[in-house]
Amino acid sequence: MNKKIEDILNRQFNNEYYSSYLYLSMAAFFDSLNFEGFSHWMKKQAGEEMVHAMKLFDFVQERNGRMILTAVKAPETNWKSPLDAFENALAHEKLVTSQINKIFELSKTEKDYPTEVFIQWFIKEQVEEEDTALKIVEKLKMIKDSKQGLLMFDSVLAKRE
Ligand code: FEO
Repeated sequence: MNKKIEDILNRQFNNEYYSSYLYLSMAAFFDSLNFEGFSHWMKKQAGEEMVHAMKLFDFVQERNGRMILTAVKAPETNWKSPLDAFENALAHEKLVTSQINKIFELSKTEKDYPTEVFIQWFIKEQVEEEDTALKIVEKLKMIKDSKQGLLMFDSVLAKRE
């Protein structure tokens, strides 16, 4: 397959793994504060990121390219508050959106139509990812420092399937 496309998809595979690491690190952080619902939500999110990574893996291999696995950067381990963690998650999703958009742009300039079609799933997914993170950030801003509010929201996030 086209070398530039193969490289950018390899990089995105690593980026998705990093996303999974970041959210799993947030899960550990929340669990250490006994916010089991927030932790559960983050574990589910980490699992979704692995699914994203595997979609890239399978696509590259299917097109006779090669996935080269490289080191995943260590994520942050601590945040000032649940709001701080979710603001970080939102900023991270915005970064991922820009990475995905670059893949789309490159697939167009390289006239790699299968990649152009393939990456559209991720473009739609990013709309959802940013929307979900933003809604949680906004709710946490309403809750502010209310312990009761945080505990109630924790049980809401515990229901994520
Ligand atoms: Fe793989 Fe949260 O984007």
